[in-house]
Amino acid sequence: MTDTMPSDLLDHARAAKGFMPEDEGALLHRIALERLPHGPVLEVGTYCGKSAIYLGAAAQQVGGTVFTVDHHRGSEENQAGWEHHDASVVDPELGLMDTLGQFRKNIARAGLEEQVVAVVGQSTTVAAHWRTPLSLLFIDGGHGEEPARADFAGWAHWVAASGYLAIHDVFPDPADGGRPPYEQIYLPALASGAFTEVTHTGSLRVLERTSGAAGEPLA
Ligand SMILES: C[S@@+](CC[C@H](N)C(=O)[O-])C[C@H]1O[C@@H](n2cnc3c(N)ncnc32)[C@H](O)[C@@H]1O
Repeated sequence: MTDTMPSDLLDHARAAKGFMPEDEGALLHRIALERLPHGPVLEVGTYCGKSAIYLGAAAQQVGGTVFTVDHHRGSEENQAGWEHHDASVVDPELGLMDTLGQFRKNIARAGLEEQVVAVVGQSTTVAAHWRTPLSLLFIDGGHGEEPARADFAGWAHWVAASGYLAIHDVFPDPADGGRPPYEQIYLPALASGAFTEVTHTGSLRVLERTSGAAGEPLA
């Protein structure tokens, strides 16, 4: 088995709407291949399933399950009038964003319904009830200060020993992008002493849990 994305699934990932550049998706796929034999992967921030296809492809290759959490109502920056708004994913009756249908189509088209499980709800609510150690946690949810802080507080301690915490849109230089994933997730993870950076591509940073065990609070 190679560690590159199968070409048919890469085509599906390319075709899906979303926010995952191909080189960063390739890294997600590689780390998921490595970690899935040790337990489930969880993604915060599904949108239309683009990154979930990279993760799900790995699960199809080595076995295992990818959970992906989203309320499917969009982040602040996805709402009408903001930079990342897409009117085609607004429910006309409710006047609210709804990316769940697009996600389901994309995952079905890719043939990954066995591997990728949607969890539909507020990240904080799901995290409050979550009890399962994670081999890989990928945080790509709300990019505001409060949602980023809450995702770190709610999820990061569920990464198992030797598991990975991957964080999207980490921009140490404010000229490159928004600060919350860097300030509210990446820096606190390193400051906790529980995580050590192992690799990165573009704005995707990958940290390994090098001390403590799943469920133990972080400093
Ligand atoms: C940047 S997008 C995810 C992009 C996706 N990973 C991709 O590959 O295209 C962020 C997603 O996080 C979701 N989100 C934001 N805040 C959330 C919250 N508090 N609970 C659940 N989902 C949330 C939004 O609905 C949005 O779909």
